[in-house]
Amino acid sequence: MSDRYLSLVNSPVGSSIASRVGLPRPVVLRRYTPGDPLLPGPALLGGAPASPGPSLRALLERAGASVVTSPQEGARYGALVFDARAVAAPSDLAAFPSFFSGTLRQLAPCGRVLVLGRAADGADVTVDAARQALDGIVRSLAKELKNGATANLLLVQDEASLASAVRFFLSGRSAYVDGQPVRLDAGTAPDPADWDRPLAGRTALVTGAARGIGRAIAEVLARDGAQVIVADLAAAGDALATVANAIGGTTLHLDVAAPDAPEKLIAHLRTHTAGLDILIHNAGITRDRLLANMSPEQWSSVLAVNLESQLRIDGALLGSPVLNERARVVCLSSTTGLSGNRGQTNYGATKAGVIGMVRASAALFAAHGDGTINAVAPGFIDTEMTARMPFATREVARRLSSLQQAGLPVDVAEAVAWLASPGAGGVNGQVLRVCGQNLVGA
Ligand SMILES: NC(=O)c1ccc[n+]([C@@H]2O[C@H](COP(=O)([O-])OP(=O)(O)OC[C@H]3O[C@@H](n4cnc5c(N)ncnc54)[C@H](O)[C@@H]3O)[C@@H](O)[C@H]2O)c1
Repeated sequence: MSDRYLSLVNSPVGSSIASRVGLPRPVVLRRYTPGDPLLPGPALLGGAPASPGPSLRALLERAGASVVTSPQEGARYGALVFDARAVAAPSDLAAFPSFFSGTLRQLAPCGRVLVLGRAADGADVTVDAARQALDGIVRSLAKELKNGATANLLLVQDEASLASAVRFFLSGRSAYVDGQPVRLDAGTAPDPADWDRPLAGRTALVTGAARGIGRAIAEVLARDGAQVIVADLAAAGDALATVANAIGGTTLHLDVAAPDAPEKLIAHLRTHTAGLDILIHNAGITRDRLLANMSPEQWSSVLAVNLESQLRIDGALLGSPVLNERARVVCLSSTTGLSGNRGQTNYGATKAGVIGMVRASAALFAAHGDGTINAVAPGFIDTEMTARMPFATREVARRLSSLQQAGLPVDVAEAVAWLASPGAGGVNGQVLRVCGQNLVGA
């Protein structure tokens, strides 16, 4: 379902009317296509309390950024990158207004603010206060940015995944990720031979891939070099075959909630692959009702598809040799699992449950050959699921984020593909919101 309001306010007449009457003016976001430059302009690099060292500059340059270290009159920056890893006291934070005032006005449309910090660790009260302050700064700044620009925070505990994280967050791949902290820990995170095809040689399986977000995930994983098995209900077989043909993948008819789903999945992988590297738990359903009116079937079907299937499949895979080393599992949660939503106690239970599952499974996947498991929590994404919402509710929901628009399935797919990449090995047990900094429960 296309966003007609977005098209309207990006036309000359619509833009001037929206500006005169003070309506939201979302812009068409910068999204990634292979071969794009990393940024729409140079990256201005700063830091507090000291200037960042040469290694960060070199890392940005290797990613394709042209880096400057002092403000330049008239420049249009593609990114403002601020290294706050050495922040140790609230007074150090005064460097933020020094660096950002003035330079923020020079940020290009769809530019990026990327702050590097360290996670509070309980070792020192003053240090932790200052480190946690970064979270408040970045979330607030993301709400101040305009024209499709975003701000995000990397909590760099270890540099293993910094190169891949920087590429994701500065590029158009992160178009709809805004106001989010991500923690980068130690982990096996090798640089790929080709950054445009980081998944080359990897075998991936995506559930619920016949349409919507699952289809977009399959397309992006294939674009990034993976050999993809697309799985869905037998009833979605035609659409599934179309997806497989378009991406050079193969199909598997699988009801993830069926009692024999784990065995069927493992048998398929044993026969058709040299092991599974990437599993995306995307299949999901809604059966919305107020809890007062919820039938046992409406409750149990959502629990079975959205949560219990993932627990059973992961449990079986962890005990099986078909799961390769450095496997990456990504599970679809939802912002409903973080903030709740009226009429969705069943769905909210599953999407919060996925987060609990991911946190508790991280150590198990790490122990299985340095694997990882993470969740992606989409906000409002334009798909057939959300097209069923009443018109007025959908229009309001679309504007309720800092980017003032719904995300596209590809936005979720890009985040999934990053977490599924070898270079993201330092991200484990986390939840990445892809919600344009949804104002509900943000
Ligand atoms: N669309 C959004 O705004 C949004 C927001 C947050 C989270 N999500 C989550 O993203 C995922 C995909 O959502 P979508 O909007 O693309 O949904 P969708 O309804 O468009 O597609 C879901 C797919 O899952 C398949 N499926 C359903 N039950 C299945 C089963 N038992 N076994 C195998 N496949 C099954 C369907 O056939 C369909 O192809 C879901 O987990 C959803 O909860 C979506």
